[in-house]
Amino acid sequence: MSQGLVSMSYIVASILFILSLGGLSKQETARRGNYYGMIGMAIAIIATIMSDAVSSYTILIIALLLGGALGAKAALKVEMTQMPELVALMHSLVGMAAILVGYANFMDSSSSLAGAEKTIHHVEIYIGILIGSVTFSGSVIAFGKLCGRVTGKPVLLAVRHWLNLAMLLSVICLAALFIIGADTENAILPLVLMTIIALIFGVHMVMAIGGADMPIVVSMLNSYSGWAAAATGFMLSNDLLIITGALVGSSGAILSHIMCRAMNRSFISVIAGGFGNTAGGITEEVEGDIQPIDVTGVVQILRDANSIMIIPGYGMAVAQAQHTVNEITKLLLNCNKKVRFGIHPVAGRMPGHMNVLLAEAKVPYDIVYEMDEINDDFPNIDVTIVIGANDIVNPSALDDPNSPIAGMPVLECWKGHATIVLKRSMASGYAGIGNPLFVHENTQMLFGDANESLQSVLISLQS
Ligand code: TAP
Repeated sequence: MSQGLVSMSYIVASILFILSLGGLSKQETARRGNYYGMIGMAIAIIATIMSDAVSSYTILIIALLLGGALGAKAALKVEMTQMPELVALMHSLVGMAAILVGYANFMDSSSSLAGAEKTIHHVEIYIGILIGSVTFSGSVIAFGKLCGRVTGKPVLLAVRHWLNLAMLLSVICLAALFIIGADTENAILPLVLMTIIALIFGVHMVMAIGGADMPIVVSMLNSYSGWAAAATGFMLSNDLLIITGALVGSSGAILSHIMCRAMNRSFISVIAGGFGNTAGGITEEVEGDIQPIDVTGVVQILRDANSIMIIPGYGMAVAQAQHTVNEITKLLLNCNKKVRFGIHPVAGRMPGHMNVLLAEAKVPYDIVYEMDEINDDFPNIDVTIVIGANDIVNPSALDDPNSPIAGMPVLECWKGHATIVLKRSMASGYAGIGNPLFVHENTQMLFGDANESLQSVLISLQS
């Protein structure tokens, strides 16, 4: 394929990627956005395969088949609840690719670059490997934290800020040594040292993050993976990779900003590591009596209520209760009740987790509200049904300055007339802390798997 045609295909693919991101920003157009993305990626892969730059089809086909088969297997096997782990693992692969491409470029003796161009190329290599290494090790630790193989508690070294500063200064000094000695045999040493430091920084940064603050790290690593891809694009002189990487990098950065705002955290402290810890006092113990309720009681409250709020959380994803929720919603709407959904920005385990599940179950978009849109409305709500949510409805985020989630905005359902919480036990949520909502005077607990409980509620409501 001629270079002109390849460039043309890359432009078309880039436009499709931009349309894809635009589509994904709204639930109504998300499906279309996905299709744009898939078509764009297909065009990008085909154009790259057909380009004159490819010299060995054997290696390419083996790599495509192997990578494609592994990707398809992982995507088919993964449960919706394991999606964030898979995404973290994918980010680590982008980081690993940037490291490998960087070293391959550095060792490539066939390069004809000279003078300033060569220096720029070495800077690209250095930055590419730096971002790739942080992304790789940070994503591996994020994967471990998300699937519970690495402790969810923040691991905070006493000298962490000094350590970060020392690593930053070392990386700058090593950059100078690398660029100055790039043409000599000695250049490999600063490059390897920088790689080791960047890998340690990635581990240190994510280990220092507390459980409930993981959403920010997931979106931040998403952004890093984009910049790693863009850096790879510079090293390979591939315009499409630069554009795609920049799109992922900047959209991930915007998402990180949104997440930081949602969790009331500062972006700088995320990057510096060690955030998610509190003033260091003792978290208040939860004391009080639990008021259990049965299905008949829940049905009676729903029949009496006019204004109903549903707050889904991670437990709804585990129980796969979204379809039953939709059936109940339809019934209540048919009885002329005002039913709305309140979605916390970090509910579940990935950005938009609840929206995806509700859209899959065909819950109408116009009754699904973001936290900011409905949080002031709780005093007018007759009953709130909390389905497998915990941290996102924890009043101690507002009341207890020593809580690990202190300062995080939450859905203030306790301000409503009644709250019914569906969960299996009194177990804590992702942040690993007690929840005073469960012993609040207006709260009643319906224990059991959320889907099974809701199935019983549905049957009773229908009769
Ligand atoms: P969580 O605080 O994790 O609470 C989920 C609750 O669901 C648990 O307390 C659990 O209690 C219950 N549950 C689990 N399986 C259930 C089932 N089959 N039926 C009924 N209940 C079930 O979830 P949340 O309130 O959605 O908050 C999300 C948390 O995850 C936040 O701390 C957030 O920071 C963190 N996080 C979010 C993300 C993103 S991007 N959204 C990424 C990483 C981490 P039982 O075991 O007693 O049933």
